[in-house]
Formats: sequence, structure tokens, C-alpha cells
Amino acid sequence: MPRNRVRLGVNIDHVATLRQARRGRFPDPVEAALICEQAGADSIVCHLREDRRHIQESDVVALRKKLRIGLNLEMSVAPAIVAIALRIRPDQVTLVPERRQELTTEGGLDVARQRKRLKQVVRAFEKAGIVVSLFVDPQSKQLEASRDVGARMIELHTGAYAEASSASKQARDLRLLAQAAKKANQMGLAVAAGHGLDYENTAALVRILEIEEANIGFSIIGRALAVGLPKAVAEMRQLLTRKGASK
Ligand code: PXP
Repeated sequence: MPRNRVRLGVNIDHVATLRQARRGRFPDPVEAALICEQAGADSIVCHLREDRRHIQESDVVALRKKLRIGLNLEMSVAPAIVAIALRIRPDQVTLVPERRQELTTEGGLDVARQRKRLKQVVRAFEKAGIVVSLFVDPQSKQLEASRDVGARMIELHTGAYAEASSASKQARDLRLLAQAAKKANQMGLAVAAGHGLDYENTAALVRILEIEEANIGFSIIGRALAVGLPKAVAEMRQLLTRKGASK
């Protein structure tokens, strides 16, 4: 029986983006993370980018120290970032592609084209007891490559679904996500989803029973401006509860 509850990982990068606009100490992403924890988040996600445009290394250190829920560090496989992650030891890392000029992570990781490097990185994290998730587009070749490099979890890129220009395109993208989630699950991979999820498009996604975790940032932090962070988190938590499934 599927779980009735999809785990919610709240991405707090955008709190740090606001802080960096004035290069000060306020608003504090760590304080925001603790509020999310109180409000029912299951984990906190942050992305330590190579250009440090929002989250700083000191934020990750403080989060590691203060959170009681899991810390999921999104990151590229650049050697310097891998070294930092192995030192700070989050509970989970989500490996993503990274380009300096992008506004946010644009596509999934091309696992199939970087098998050798990813195998090394996955092994290093596994050895350190850190769960590795690979952020991939819903394509069979990426799922197979993810399994081949030793990952135990994937996060399906929901950007195309979230940004679809028509209802029919969105329905097609949802079908692709459902097929990919099923396939990944059959291969023994745990399945998360994320990117562009909001208060409108999340309920339909959650009907894909293989999805056990959703990682959501922008919509929650944006909604918090209107209703406050605890309510924004609680509302999303509610959308991630499947009715009629087992506990
Ligand atoms: N998951 C991954 C792998 C991401 O790169 C991002 C964006 O940082 C998210 C989830 C959250 O996306 P959003 O901020 O659009 O909810």
C-alpha cells in the first residue's frame, strides 16, 4: 500500500537570495528552516552553488548543527563542493547540474554521459553514510544510468510539467513523470520530485503513488509573504497528504 503522506522537503534558498540582496544577516535562512521544521516540513533543502549566490557554506554548517529533521544538500559534482559536503555531512545530497548563467537549475543531470565521475561521487557519499539522490529528467536512459552508478534515489525534474504551456502538454508531462516514477520504483530506486511545484500543480502530481518526497522552494517562500511561513508550509503539507492510502 502506498504511504498516505509524501515527505515535504522545503528549499530555503530564496530566503538567502533576499539576504544576499543587501549582503547582510537578515533574513536568516537558518531561522526560516527552523520555522519550517516546526510547521511540519520533513527535511530542509538548500543548494550550495559554486558561485555562492544565495546559500553560504556557513549556512550549511549552521543547518547541520541546528536541524532535527534531515538536511538535503543540493549540489554539483565539482570537487571543491564534494569536499565541503563530505566535511559537513548532510543526511542526503541531491546531485544537480549547474551553470553559472542559469537563473535556477534548468535541466536534469545527464547521468548517462558522466557515469564514471558519478560512480566515484556516489561511492564516496555512500561510504560516508550519506544518501545520494540524482536529479534527472523523466527519461529511461537517465533512470537506468542512475541505477548503474549506484544511486538509491532519484528526484524527477518536474519543471516541464510545472511550466507546461497548455493543459494537454501538462497532462502529457504528468504521464511521463508517472511512467518514470513507476520504472524507477521497479528498478529499486526511491523516487522524489521537485522543481516548479506550487499550490496549483502539486495535488495532481501526488497521485503518482511511487513519489515519496517532494522538494519545494519558490512557491512556499513566495506564499509566505502573504500568509506567513508556518501557514505556507502547513498548506503545502496538506496538499501532500494522500487521502485513502495507508499510513
Ligand atoms: N529540487 C531541485 C533539484 C532543485 O534544483 C530545485 C530548485 O533549487 C528545487 C527542487 C526546488 O524548486 P522550486 O524552488 O522551483 O520549488
